[in-house]
Amino acid sequence: MQNQDTYDVVILGAGAAGLMCAAEAGKRGRRVLLLDKADKIGKKILISGGGRCNFTNLHVTPAAYLSQNPHFCKSALARYTPQDFLDLMRKHGLSWHEKTLGQLFCDQKAPAIVEMLWTECREADVQLRLNTDFDTISHEEGQFTLQTSQGKIQTQALVIATGGPSIPRMGASDVGLRVAKQFGLKNIPFSPALVPFTFDQPQLEGLLAGLAGVSTPIGVSCGEGYFRENMLFTHRGLSGPAMLQISSYWQQGKAVQIDLLPGQDALGWLQALQKQRPKAELKTVLAEVLPNRLAQRLCETLFPNRPLGQYGEKLLQSIAEQLQAWELTPAGTEGMRTAEVSLGGVDTRELSSKTMEARKVPGLYFIGETVDVTGWLGGYNFQWAWASGWCAGQVA
Ligand code: FDA
Repeated sequence: MQNQDTYDVVILGAGAAGLMCAAEAGKRGRRVLLLDKADKIGKKILISGGGRCNFTNLHVTPAAYLSQNPHFCKSALARYTPQDFLDLMRKHGLSWHEKTLGQLFCDQKAPAIVEMLWTECREADVQLRLNTDFDTISHEEGQFTLQTSQGKIQTQALVIATGGPSIPRMGASDVGLRVAKQFGLKNIPFSPALVPFTFDQPQLEGLLAGLAGVSTPIGVSCGEGYFRENMLFTHRGLSGPAMLQISSYWQQGKAVQIDLLPGQDALGWLQALQKQRPKAELKTVLAEVLPNRLAQRLCETLFPNRPLGQYGEKLLQSIAEQLQAWELTPAGTEGMRTAEVSLGGVDTRELSSKTMEARKVPGLYFIGETVDVTGWLGGYNFQWAWASGWCAGQVA
């Protein structure tokens, strides 16, 4: 008779990747246990996308993922695509809408996605244990033994799907990397990504004073990253999708370069206005293309405000440059407290890109955010969780 606590596959973490992996492994007839220290499954799915879960993106491409090895994610993303997830949703009678930039949201809201994944698991006879943490993992003769808060569990395959450390108040931690270290696997330490920027007091009381709440479409660049989305001024710095996106490319001490008139030729525009409306003040014409408070603030701090006819060519040129390449140096970020995801994770050189199995430790898998693959904002991170979980679920 088989011991109750012996499984073919144990998956640590009933989040996005873990649920997908469990359902797939269960469908293959594997005896699967899904174990989570939380009191319910899929907590990050439930709070995602403002409760509507931005579950994938129509424009998924490997270029939308950051990793020390940008090629690693290609295989999994090609094998399990956004269309595959849409097929699953159709099967469960769920519908969706595109909000912007290919971002798909669930019409029936986030709990319906969790319910769908759990139904898949239940139909595949996956066992679930909540409120269960593990203390130790040992590995002998091809078997993993976990000492958990609910007793000992043995398994042939162990899948680490414990996510990243962003939002620690939800119980998130770097436990996945600790397991990797225990097995001698290299990792890239986690750091916050998709996170708002903070600025120091002199900047907040100077240049950025009175702008909290103002939002405007911009182009922003830093390192190899460039995004055209909205920027939001906050009481502590800068946020909004443009800033969250570029935060993944930012490093301490670096500036971000902001184009307040993306897709426009600021100099040509100012020169034309100078001829047409020489008596109009700069702040008046800027307020026609930028939020009023921002236009005022720029003319109080960065540019002298005059009737357009009074600017010389050089000054006009420098104003145009500042409008299209405004450099701001954040003091830092809001950190893991509010980061949507984390950069870093298990070094992809340690894993098979096809199966997510550790090369040095047969039977040990890492999926989702525990792996050094981090997507852009907009459904890319869930798609990675689904794809990596699906791949491991085919073989674990
Ligand atoms: P995930 O975090 O989903 O799951 C990890 C699981 O492991 C959790 O259930 C946790 O309780 C469990 N666990 C942790 N430690 C454990 C332990 N010691 N023992 C047992 N279990 C343990 N992405 C996106 O594509 N679209 C979106 O709209 C959003 N929105 C969003 C909003 C907010 C506020 C956040 C914080 C994040 C997002 N994301 C997102 C990112 C997305 O949530 C994230 O990329 C995935 O949830 C990662 O899936 P994983 O399965 O890897 O981890």
